[in-house]
Amino acid sequence: MSRVVDASMRLIYDSRGRPTVEATVSAEDGGQGRAGAPSGESTGATEVQAFPPGGVPEALLRFRSDIRPGLLGLSVEDQAGVDAFLHRTDGTANFSGIGGNTATAISVAVALAHAAEAGTPLWRSLLRPGLDRPTDPAIVGNCLNGGRHAIGGPEIQEYHVISSGRPSESIPAAIEVHREIGERLKRKYPGMALGRGDEGGWVAPLGNVEAVELLAESCAAVRDRRHAEVHPGLDLAASEFFRDGKYVYRERSLDPDGQVAFVAELVDRFGLRFLEDPIQEGDYDGFTAVTQAVGRKALVVGDDIYTTAKDRVAEGVRRHAGNAVLIKVNQVGTLSDTLATVDLARSAGWKTVTSHRSGETPDGWLAHLAVAFGSAGLKCGLLGGERVAKLNELLRLASPPGA
Ligand code: PGA
Ligand code: ZN
Repeated sequence: MSRVVDASMRLIYDSRGRPTVEATVSAEDGGQGRAGAPSGESTGATEVQAFPPGGVPEALLRFRSDIRPGLLGLSVEDQAGVDAFLHRTDGTANFSGIGGNTATAISVAVALAHAAEAGTPLWRSLLRPGLDRPTDPAIVGNCLNGGRHAIGGPEIQEYHVISSGRPSESIPAAIEVHREIGERLKRKYPGMALGRGDEGGWVAPLGNVEAVELLAESCAAVRDRRHAEVHPGLDLAASEFFRDGKYVYRERSLDPDGQVAFVAELVDRFGLRFLEDPIQEGDYDGFTAVTQAVGRKALVVGDDIYTTAKDRVAEGVRRHAGNAVLIKVNQVGTLSDTLATVDLARSAGWKTVTSHRSGETPDGWLAHLAVAFGSAGLKCGLLGGERVAKLNELLRLASPPGA
């Protein structure tokens, strides 16, 4: 048994320049783990609270007074025990006592310390039952930003390339799609200023369907040029533009049935392979309708509707409300809760897609989780140091030193 002999927590900044927390945990044989917690902007209503009411300063105070004394002496091999201690110390149903980001940083730092003690990479120590060897997650890479992650872009939040194959092939192909879109935007808007959004995708004054068209054409161009498996996908984050019973786009508003028909048409017309949050988070039936319509052609992925919570995913499985779930550790706050959701999804035959947040840290551990979970996708963006850190870690995993 290897015990925690030291633990600390500090304020760090995320990729939007907002404060978050980072935990460092040391175990008795010298293994150390350090993990920062990311932050969302288009958060699901049922995800845990990132910080206590007093924000990061209160999170740091709670760490020193309540968490650190109890954490010292716990075994880094006992992830479930550590995570149960975090829940007990928090004492609320949504981590509003200590903050879900505090819990996430500590939980992942303990797992990293354990892996370091054991001399194994994190993915191996977390590998799910039934997975005897690592699989390559497809890269889900954000190419165009809208919604709450961009100023002046379309309402649909994220336009992705889904790139499969070995990381040495999937990553450059995905980046090439991003670059292709940039070239096309420069030609379309000569001399105009173009920017990038929170997740590194381009921001341009495009209409919603116009942007899907640009994405699909750019994927096709790269597919032809490189013979690469790159296909378009979307995260609509539909809760963000659902108002008074309607999905409100700049071009028009749609009622819930109209929204199902619209997204099904997008899948058929543009060959989308990935469709996240096409329906607002309160509407399981809408997800079921979309899954019936296009679930054989595309991953229908629930993010805001499930918020990585096991009970919610179980309800979704019962109702056939999707065929995949997005996995974000800090939506539930601990690795143990995350693993329970991943295992449930896997046993139900659902896919998982392991995901970053829009406000990220330059940590690479997310790539290990995607591999350990046997995820169909690693959704981590393409550009920006905090996104590239995950891609580079995936490359390291695929060809470890000496291999
Ligand atoms: P968030 O959004 O990290 O801002 O919550 C990302 C997503 O919706 O997938
Ligand atoms: Zn999402």
